[in-house]
Amino acid sequence: MKNETTVRVTPEEMAAQARFAREFSALPERPKTYFIVTYGCQMNAHDSEKLAGMLEEMGLAPAPAREQADFVLHNTCCIRDNAERKALGNVTWLKEIKKERPEMLIGVCGCMVQEPGMAEKLLRQYPFVDVAFGTGNIHRLPELLYRAVETKRRVVSVPDEQSTLIEGLPIRRESPFQAYVTIMYGCNNFCSYCIVPYVRGRERSREMKDILAEVEGLQKKGVQEIMLLGQNVNSYGNDVPGGVTFPRLLHEVSRLGIPRIRFMTSHPKDLSDELIREMAENPALCRHLHLPVQSGSNRILEAMNRRYTRESYLEKVEKIRKAAPDVGLTTDLIVAFPGETDADFEDTMDLARRVCFDSAFTFIYSPREGTRAAKMPGRVDPALATERIERLIALQEEMTQKRFAEMIGKTESVLVTGQSRRNETQFTGKTSRNISVNFEGGADMIGKIVQVKITAASKTTLKGVVEGDA
Ligand code: SAH
Ligand code: SF4
Ligand code: F3S
Repeated sequence: MKNETTVRVTPEEMAAQARFAREFSALPERPKTYFIVTYGCQMNAHDSEKLAGMLEEMGLAPAPAREQADFVLHNTCCIRDNAERKALGNVTWLKEIKKERPEMLIGVCGCMVQEPGMAEKLLRQYPFVDVAFGTGNIHRLPELLYRAVETKRRVVSVPDEQSTLIEGLPIRRESPFQAYVTIMYGCNNFCSYCIVPYVRGRERSREMKDILAEVEGLQKKGVQEIMLLGQNVNSYGNDVPGGVTFPRLLHEVSRLGIPRIRFMTSHPKDLSDELIREMAENPALCRHLHLPVQSGSNRILEAMNRRYTRESYLEKVEKIRKAAPDVGLTTDLIVAFPGETDADFEDTMDLARRVCFDSAFTFIYSPREGTRAAKMPGRVDPALATERIERLIALQEEMTQKRFAEMIGKTESVLVTGQSRRNETQFTGKTSRNISVNFEGGADMIGKIVQVKITAASKTTLKGVVEGDA
């Protein structure tokens, strides 16, 4: 892998793309509608909002279903084997639809396309794919689609260079009251199991002034909650001169007046005292910290290249809980990493029990070609891996119930996000701690923060009664 430096996409390049968008919209025979299928994490969800923004500038309108769209774009993920298989399976499924509607264009983009060898594989094995591009050149969608339509030939453009920093893309946001804001792209950590650094390039932080301008715009539109995105937000600013830190950014962002600020994801090794202080003192920061631990065994953490120990993780948890006792912790856990013994797994169980997370995402290790762990000996038997993950999930369910029980009787601020599909008077929202609550309400509450008294808990959500507006 090259040692990449950040490449800022120039305003001239962005202007050239805007010209392609205008010329595309004037083409007599061109796709009129689009549908984006998104896989993976919040980064991808937000990239899809940018892809949609570009497509609408090109004159395309959203289609109600993918079968009906003139252009179907798959924004893929490759974090685990099943994510990749799902994306490729769905691309193949469209091949049949395309037989009936040959004018349909099929696109593939996102992390999977950026995997070594994938572009060639798409060219060879997926001849019905019309357009493919990587994560580092999404801003070139207008040009690539223009070329595909004009030349009626396949266009595949996957640059080696992934370390682009792109400002000024149009964004078609999914929600009028919740918004994603990217603060940094890429990752430098090279956890031994993880493909992200290979498909998303090196860490590069957006300039603080650009982030603040975006947040200010969102505040003016009445957005109630933003989520700041990065693979490791705690290292925000390390790559820009002038000593900007993540806690400092949080401080500045929260002065702009958006009621709720969230962020994802914090790497435990870089969680600073300064951030803990900011969490404790800044009321605009949501009472939630996602702090992926991955394993409770020092031996495995070392092999994973996580660069913290179980003890230092537990120490940080204690510090947070002392400074900000109302902050809920959630985590990611991997079982069956190569060489994981029963004792290692019991260490993970023990850590999960001790911390008592609000919730946890649990995964069975999935080897990713090109990563260090894929070459490590000691593959865990799949049946044993399943047994382990089932035990871990059962334990986490117990811990979640314990946390939920503590919340019953309390009044929580809830951002109302939607209406239940099954029952018109039932509404749903999220507490500051990021827990779903269901309650009786009215449609005028959607997008507002209301006070809800928690009365009961089910397996994954709370139930409550509205007490009033915020
Ligand atoms: N940047 C984030 C994680 C992004 S990936 C962080 O470091 O916290 C989200 C989660 O997917 C990871 O936390 C990890 O638990 C899981 N994951 C990543 N690679 C994996 C693999 N090869 N097999 C199984 N789970 C994996
Ligand atoms: Fe992957 Fe580790 Fe980077 Fe997270 S911090 S994206 S797990 S390499
Ligand atoms: Fe996200 Fe998947 Fe890419 S988790 S960064 S979409 S590999």
